Amino acid sequence: MSDALNYLIKARPEAMTAYFSFLKDAGKHLDPKTRSLISVITKIHSQTERGLRQYLPRAIRDGASPAEILDAILMAFPTLGLAKIVWAVDIILDMDIPEFRLEAMDSEPRWHDLVGWDDVIDGDVTYVDDCDGRNVFIYRSGETCKVYDSRCPHQVTDIPHLALSGKKLTCPKHQWVFDVTTGECVGNGDRPLRQFQSRLREGRLEALW
Ligand code: FES
Repeated sequence: MSDALNYLIKARPEAMTAYFSFLKDAGKHLDPKTRSLISVITKIHSQTERGLRQYLPRAIRDGASPAEILDAILMAFPTLGLAKIVWAVDIILDMDIPEFRLEAMDSEPRWHDLVGWDDVIDGDVTYVDDCDGRNVFIYRSGETCKVYDSRCPHQVTDIPHLALSGKKLTCPKHQWVFDVTTGECVGNGDRPLRQFQSRLREGRLEALW
């Protein structure tokens, strides 16, 4: 939330509570994906960069594919116009969201080779960089493990290996803190790390995305 909204919530709590109640109620018959797509369009229309950076990953999390997001943006051409659409696409490119890369746009999820299972330390966190354009954190516990996207669920910042301290991962952008043993956000934010399905194949750990 912006500093301005935080200020207004404190300065005019009744009015702002009513405003947020209105927004919540106004979309109650829409599924989460549709709500997120509409939010993306409104952020582009108002050219709110921070909001766009926040709602794009939310739309993906709510099930919108990059192709659907681009469709929604292009369908809003009559109200957005080309200049705002180009403004938004520049931001999308700057965010470097893997799903939006041209080679990934229409591809089906597939298994990616990450690392040899013997190189994944039990009870610890292993970082693998640049696996088909993604970096991942792996937490192993015995014979099971969790594979997390290094992209922050807030605004898709690529959380670096250096941000790991013990079992805590802190995003450098707005300091959301994640517990790598569970993926849960345990400080400053409200959404968990994205987790990929994983499997062992002939001594190698693979993940699906
Ligand atoms: S991008 Fe905001 S906390 Fe990570």
